[in-house]
Amino acid sequence: MSFRTFFLSLSASFGVAWLAVVVVPYFKMRSIEPISMGDDATGTNAVFIPKRAGRIADGSKVYAENGCYLCHSQLVRPTYAGNDIFRSDLGGMVYEDQRGDSRRETNVYDYAGEKFAQIGETRLGPDLSNLGVRVVNSYAKDISPEAWLYRHLYNPRSSAAYSHSACPSFRFLFDEKKINGIASGGALELDDTSDIEIVPSADARALVSYLLSLKKDQPVPPSLNFAKPAASSTTAP
Ligand code: HEC
Repeated sequence: MSFRTFFLSLSASFGVAWLAVVVVPYFKMRSIEPISMGDDATGTNAVFIPKRAGRIADGSKVYAENGCYLCHSQLVRPTYAGNDIFRSDLGGMVYEDQRGDSRRETNVYDYAGEKFAQIGETRLGPDLSNLGVRVVNSYAKDISPEAWLYRHLYNPRSSAAYSHSACPSFRFLFDEKKINGIASGGALELDDTSDIEIVPSADARALVSYLLSLKKDQPVPPSLNFAKPAASSTTAP
């Protein structure tokens, strides 16, 4: 094989893959405009776009700066690429009082309005696309959802159920203060009688707002959903 053929074949093998994986999706998806839920939306053609400005955008930055995406994905895989839907609370819930089965895959609009789509690099930890729903519905039983997340960020191994957690602790996002009189609002409730309190910094507060905003349970048009709605649930109440 001459050098010329070798070089051309090499360029073709990489070039075709590059075209198919990078160039074609870029041109197909870069100008997709979501149809937001408004007066003209019928419920079958609209998607809900959550607000991402302010603290949520700040929190997203803290998430990126601290490398959370290295271990946590935010992508409920489409069924053809490996079924994630069976993990009930990954994208929506199997059963909710009002809506029944709200499970769904990630779609392209889920990242609308985000500066960076934090799809993630690996899944060393659980997928966080639907974390906000999980924390509120399942984890934070005796404390507020914010407090649950602060506790996890400060010490992921604080409770018996999570004693082997491999999630790193992000203590530097909290300030240690000496209690002078009344404790600060939002301070961590540790089983500690010392006069030191652990107060979340502005970064920790923004990060927690962002984490609680991660919800993938909004209804999507059937054309984007993994499963067609069951016959009984299509009848409007
Ligand atoms: C070295 C990899 C790694 C990094 C980096 C990491 N985590 Fe984790 N995380 C894990 C693992 C593993 C778990 C599962 C164990 C557990 O539930 O505590 C986890 C669990 C969690 C959970 C509980 C999720 C659930 O549904 O049970 C939250 C919330 C979380 N991490 C948030 C974060 C945030 C926010 C960051 C960045 C500030 C971060 N993690 C960075 C590995 C990581």
